[in-house]
Amino acid sequence: MSFGGEGLFDVFSGESGAHTGVEAKTNGEGKRKNDEPITIIDEKRLKDDDEAEMRTLLDSLPKIKTVKLDVAGCSHEVSVNSSEEVPELQARTGPAAREYKFTLDPFQERSVLCLDNHQSVLVSAHTSAGKTVVAEYAISLALRDKQRVIYTTPIKALSNQKYRDLQEEFVDVGLMTGDVTINPSASCLVMTTEILRSMLYKGSEIMREVQWVVFDEIHYMRDSERGVVWEETIILLPDNVRYVFLSATIPNAKEFAEWICHLHKQPCNAVYTEYRPTPLQHYIFPCGGDGLHLVVNDKREFNDAEFDNAMAVLRNAGDMAKGDARNRRQPRGGTQGPSNIKKLVKYCHENNFLPLIVFSFSKKDVEESFASRRQAFPDNYQ
Ligand SMILES: Nc1ncnc2c1ncn2[C@@H]1O[C@H](COP(=O)(O)OP(=O)(O)OP(=O)(O)O)[C@@H](O)[C@H]1O
Ligand SMILES: [Mg+2]
Repeated sequence: MSFGGEGLFDVFSGESGAHTGVEAKTNGEGKRKNDEPITIIDEKRLKDDDEAEMRTLLDSLPKIKTVKLDVAGCSHEVSVNSSEEVPELQARTGPAAREYKFTLDPFQERSVLCLDNHQSVLVSAHTSAGKTVVAEYAISLALRDKQRVIYTTPIKALSNQKYRDLQEEFVDVGLMTGDVTINPSASCLVMTTEILRSMLYKGSEIMREVQWVVFDEIHYMRDSERGVVWEETIILLPDNVRYVFLSATIPNAKEFAEWICHLHKQPCNAVYTEYRPTPLQHYIFPCGGDGLHLVVNDKREFNDAEFDNAMAVLRNAGDMAKGDARNRRQPRGGTQGPSNIKKLVKYCHENNFLPLIVFSFSKKDVEESFASRRQAFPDNYQ
């Protein structure tokens, strides 16, 4: 799977690829066809020249090596220029830039160690693993050292949310999205990646004081349309900046770290963990039924019997099995009970499964639902 644009990391593969140079127009036996211009090309020599040129080009590129470090509880690799020694990470001597209420997991410890050593790090871990801890540490370091830090997110809504969270925690925080600008002279600026890219294109003065840049949800870079925004932003950033990349688990963290090392001439660490603090469980809520059926448990075991039960409920549910959208189209005044989605939310509420996120593909439904909730619980929507 390609992390960025197609072939972005080919430079690291060490292969010269399928480049064959100019093709000579011959009929295969060195004789020209009647309607072709005369072209005298020594194909073998051309190929040798091409290969030699490619070899020289590859030799001229800095070589990157990735070394796996021996750590417990997570994986840690560091990518450095192959002509350099792997810099040994030094344990912190003074107080930590930030204290946490909980004991840090091994991957958080390792990542924080990289930051204390003023090195960039890519943190790749499952959702809710606690990647924000690492970003918060970088913010604390920047604030302690009177430098600026930029925190980028892929979407405006996430920037707004992060701004609220970080502002509560660090106070000296600003927000820049296409819609709003709040406190742009703050030490910690939250923005979308697009805004950072345009700041870099405009040669913004802000960049002079920036020591750390956090890219949250960097796996968005794999998006075929928007991925280029991350590529350009990262390429445009100066070499003296240190990076914190937070990502869902990705298959090519190593290649990404090598790319950063190559681009910005600095060691780049990749710390990964497969640990899931919140194990995934998959339930089915059959429309027309009244409860959840656990079909994949936290050990990833599929439960055939529960699946069959859920299907049987669906078969016996009559019209209710058609789902809310179908039922809505029926004339008013029917004998419908509460919608399936209401039943599901109520079920989750009664069984202590909150908080709950409900995705809807209909903007109208979301707005109607929000309006009715606000009417019912005005105190919750100040
Ligand atoms: N070591 C820890 N021990 C206990 N709780 C932790 C630890 N690290 C983080 N948390 C808590 O876990 C929750 C989820 O953390 P966080 O939001 O950082 O996850 P994330 O990895 O960024 O997930 P996502 O991929 O969804 O963005 C937070 O409430 C955080 O305070
Ligand atoms: Mg996160």
